[in-house]
Amino acid sequence: MHRRQFLNLTAAAATTPVLASCGGEPEGFPVNIKPGFPDSGFTPNSTAEEVTAGLDLTGKTMLVTGCNSGIGFETMRVLALRGAHVIGTGRTMQKATDACAKVEGKTTPLALELTSFESVLECVNQVQSLSLPLDSLICNAGISGRLEKQVVNDIEIAFLVNYLSHFLFVNKLLPTVLAADQGRIVHVSSRAAYRRTPPEGIRFNTLGASNGGFEYDSWEYYGQSKLANALFSRKLAQQLAATNATSNALHPGFVKTGIARGQGRLTEIGFDILGPLISKNVEEGAATTCYAASHPSLAKVSGEFLFDSNVVEVGGTHHLENDALADQLWTVSEEMLGDWL
Ligand SMILES: NC(=O)c1ccc[n+]([C@@H]2O[C@H](COP(=O)([O-])OP(=O)(O)OC[C@H]3O[C@@H](n4cnc5c(N)ncnc54)[C@H](OP(=O)(O)O)[C@@H]3O)[C@@H](O)[C@H]2O)c1
Repeated sequence: MHRRQFLNLTAAAATTPVLASCGGEPEGFPVNIKPGFPDSGFTPNSTAEEVTAGLDLTGKTMLVTGCNSGIGFETMRVLALRGAHVIGTGRTMQKATDACAKVEGKTTPLALELTSFESVLECVNQVQSLSLPLDSLICNAGISGRLEKQVVNDIEIAFLVNYLSHFLFVNKLLPTVLAADQGRIVHVSSRAAYRRTPPEGIRFNTLGASNGGFEYDSWEYYGQSKLANALFSRKLAQQLAATNATSNALHPGFVKTGIARGQGRLTEIGFDILGPLISKNVEEGAATTCYAASHPSLAKVSGEFLFDSNVVEVGGTHHLENDALADQLWTVSEEMLGDWL
């Protein structure tokens, strides 16, 4: 076999779990526009610029975590293009500053390292010191599952970065979102939230150093962290029901970004080779996030899951609407955060 053919096949095999989590055709999980919600008219190929065409976001303040790369960068670029003042966070001030400098419009860089609760609270202070209501708080930053289990301060790293630190961040900034006329919290989840979780949805006994007696599966850890994003959004929406604020979760599509970092060189090569053929580009990948954060048609929509810039229902057996699990997750999150909250 020619070396290049071998490399392509190997890369395809390596990328299979990624595709199963982020893209590919639905198997047992049909996704349809939710009854009662109109078809937005947008498609998987609609770009962030297209779904926000004609919107004037002047006077609105929107925060995007993970603004220096992939979906987060394009989200910041397009929201700023439409006139919003975008607060962009990066793991370091330098990363956030460099990203903001590449964008036309009004942006404010801030440091937010999600493996550190100190950094989360410092960023909260910085946002509060701006004294601006937050019209959209977009929880975008994230990592894929790691090749080997990693824990920081006894918390599994995908759960910590993708979910738990965002849970702390959002709860602390809730008054700032409620101060807006119609504040929105947008949780960038994934189809991994229903396709790649453990059967129980979230294995609470694996959130620390212990594997709970199960074999380590990086994509199950990613899946449960992304299910946590969706369940947090759902329960938050219930709590916000009497307010003008909303909370929604979404799958951005399978998007060619840096998300495969940490999954090993083989998977990265797979992404590089197959990505351009089967994935969305970042212009398309940021569409659903920008739609959820800004489109007027969603002003009263809360507690929903979005996909390709539409409110959808996901068929099959999964935990996206498991309120008992959402309650348990909330309680466990409060316990894990203790005095930080
Ligand atoms: N791409 C897809 O196919 C896909 C599919 C479904 C869901 N998603 C979700 O989309 C979101 C954006 O991902 P992406 O695809 O745009 O990937 P990406 O290009 O790798 O961007 C991820 C962003 O998160 C930041 N981040 C990572 N670890 C962090 C930490 N400890 N503290 C603070 N920020 C951190 C990264 O900062 P650095 O650059 O400094 O590491 C980067 O800005 C993620 O939540 C991901 O789970 C993506």
